[in-house]
Amino acid sequence: MSHHQITEAKRRLHRSELAVPGSRPELFEKAAAGRADYVFLDLEDAVAPDDKEAARRNVIEALGNIDWHRAKKTVSVRINGLDTPYMYRDLIDVVEQAGARLDTILVPKVGVPGDIYTVDAIVTQIEQAVGLDHRIGVEALIETALGMANVEAVAASSPRLEALHFGVADYAASCRARTITIGGLNPDYPGDQWHSALSRMLVACRANGLRAIDGPFGDFGDPEGFTAGARRAAALGYDGKWAIHPSQVDLANEVFTPPPAEVDQARRVLQALEEAAAAGRGAAQLDGRMIDAASARMAANVVETAGAISARGC
Ligand code: COA
Ligand code: MG
Repeated sequence: MSHHQITEAKRRLHRSELAVPGSRPELFEKAAAGRADYVFLDLEDAVAPDDKEAARRNVIEALGNIDWHRAKKTVSVRINGLDTPYMYRDLIDVVEQAGARLDTILVPKVGVPGDIYTVDAIVTQIEQAVGLDHRIGVEALIETALGMANVEAVAASSPRLEALHFGVADYAASCRARTITIGGLNPDYPGDQWHSALSRMLVACRANGLRAIDGPFGDFGDPEGFTAGARRAAALGYDGKWAIHPSQVDLANEVFTPPPAEVDQARRVLQALEEAAAAGRGAAQLDGRMIDAASARMAANVVETAGAISARGC
């Protein structure tokens, strides 16, 4: 290991994150009653400009009236971007009036570390002024060419930062990529055209102790397409994926839950290495394959994730 120590963000189960437009309050109770680990109440792109103020009021009310934590949800609010006239009031009204019940703020279209610095500074002041007894986390959407060009610096920008999300739709627009559906693959490209972006963002997250979350898959009538995308993200190391429709929640939970056979195998690896260590050996063989300290670290990740899921009672 390097002499540099990575500080891990607060641990939260984050296999599925359901997007809920702030302008559709009739969906809030359904979202709380569902099986998503995370819910974000949206003030940004799912809300039309004329509905921004009403959506903000709805979201503040929902944070106060619905017991998201009893429903085993982490609850987040996606504010409007720093280039809009809505963002400052989103932050001030939501954090002042409902900050006590809010876990994280999701900042869209983050381009430079200063975007996070600005949000952090405002939230810090409000927390102090209101006397909040918990620290509200910040999460950043990487969904522009600028954000991706600066993703390493953004990932290191604040101890308040907990996660980065890959926002494939805006990213495609920003890069002028030719796409067919949100998050889907263009057959003209040999392979996965999002691979390099997903991979770069994942590394920026892990180098800074952040969770890495894959964004939307727009065609909610195509569960196979959703699952294939989620599995690609999980293979890279992602913690979870957005659901833009309730039907995608269980799919995400399933993909990002290590299957029992994988957990058993991870426990066997740890056990075999403990026995090898007791016999004075660092490497060992299990089922004809070499395992060593790196295998133990991979196995520990699996066991830890499984432990967090069972502790949550899911
Ligand atoms: N959260 C909670 N419940 C939801 C929901 C959501 N995001 N989306 C749909 N539902 C509910 C519906 O109310 C309906 O409930 P019912 O069975 O009690 O009537 C059920 O799930 C099935 O919904 P359906 O009729 O298939 O969808 P819809 O036409 O109402 O809405 C969308 C489809 C895509 C418009 C809607 O799912 C949505 O707004 N998703 C989020 C979009 C978003 O936030 N985008 C920004 C981030 S990319
Ligand atoms: Mg977006």
